[in-house]
Amino acid sequence: MLKEKIVKEIREKGFIPFDRFVEICLYDPEFGYYTRKRTGANPAEDFVTAPEVSESFGKTVADYLKRRAEELSLPLKILELGGGKGFLAKDIVETLNPESYTILEVREKPDWLKGINWVKSLKEVEPFEGIVISNEFFDAFPFKRIKNLNGELREVVVREKNGELYEDAVPFSGEIPCQIGEGEEYCFFIGWEEFLRELSEKLKRGLFITFDYGGKCREISGRKSFRAFRRNRLVEDYLSYPGETDLTALVDFDYLSSTLERTGFTVEKLTHQSSFLLENGIEKILEPGGAPQALMLLVDMGRKFKVLEATRARSR
Ligand SMILES: C[S@@+](CC[C@H](N)C(=O)[O-])C[C@H]1O[C@@H](n2cnc3c(N)ncnc32)[C@H](O)[C@@H]1O
Repeated sequence: MLKEKIVKEIREKGFIPFDRFVEICLYDPEFGYYTRKRTGANPAEDFVTAPEVSESFGKTVADYLKRRAEELSLPLKILELGGGKGFLAKDIVETLNPESYTILEVREKPDWLKGINWVKSLKEVEPFEGIVISNEFFDAFPFKRIKNLNGELREVVVREKNGELYEDAVPFSGEIPCQIGEGEEYCFFIGWEEFLRELSEKLKRGLFITFDYGGKCREISGRKSFRAFRRNRLVEDYLSYPGETDLTALVDFDYLSSTLERTGFTVEKLTHQSSFLLENGIEKILEPGGAPQALMLLVDMGRKFKVLEATRARSR
């Protein structure tokens, strides 16, 4: 069981930093939440994502990609990061019939998904010109939880006693990209930079677009960013069922933007998902009777989710 694996690692090391705990819980090859649990064919297990709500999301995105590819003279070669169950890929491929569509995903390819290349590592991707797209990808990276306690930064770690896991905090000597006030906590996705550096080596020229929940540093810094979901519920006891629980945090779009800029991209714009979908004609695509889905995409997710667009110019 995953808990036993975690306890064993803690006994060897004394404690594990929170980002290591998240990495094991989500991506352990045998028992990880993404590698082993959320792998069924149906949408909505523990949480529902925009492409799973309605195909109007993917079709609106597809129309937008077609227009932008024409404007930027880009081939319709698409790489999707963390494509999950493949719903966005299916809707984009049906609408656009692109030259190629590749999904980067750590778990197995669903049997029903046709006409799509599937890779488990960026190393398998040949350098290309085209489009990189993702939905709820950057929030699925392991993250540290850094607290400001009595004016000092402390890092959440996980310890164990008699086989039970518990939270503790140790001094944190690094820097964080967002200022936090007394008692506040910042979720620090430290793996983004290495990933984006490798991605920018692969994307020789093109468009990068990502959808995720979160906001600018000042919008999220006072809010509870770390969240755990199990069986469609927000839960507090995230230590009790490792591997059964999704662990995630709000995306700091200021930090994502500065990381993109540092790794060779140019950030073009950040908008709300609702504005993006309305500006790109979702109302013409919504299925008859699709009012509940429209409300979810435009109002609930529409306000919480942002769309960040960047470009990558050909390097000299
Ligand atoms: C929150 S899910 C979103 C899935 C899908 N994009 C959607 O909207 O339904 C995040 C996905 O990203 C994948 N993922 C996260 N980090 C990854 C990485 N470094 N390489 C490949 N896949 C990754 C996970 O396995 C998971 O399926």
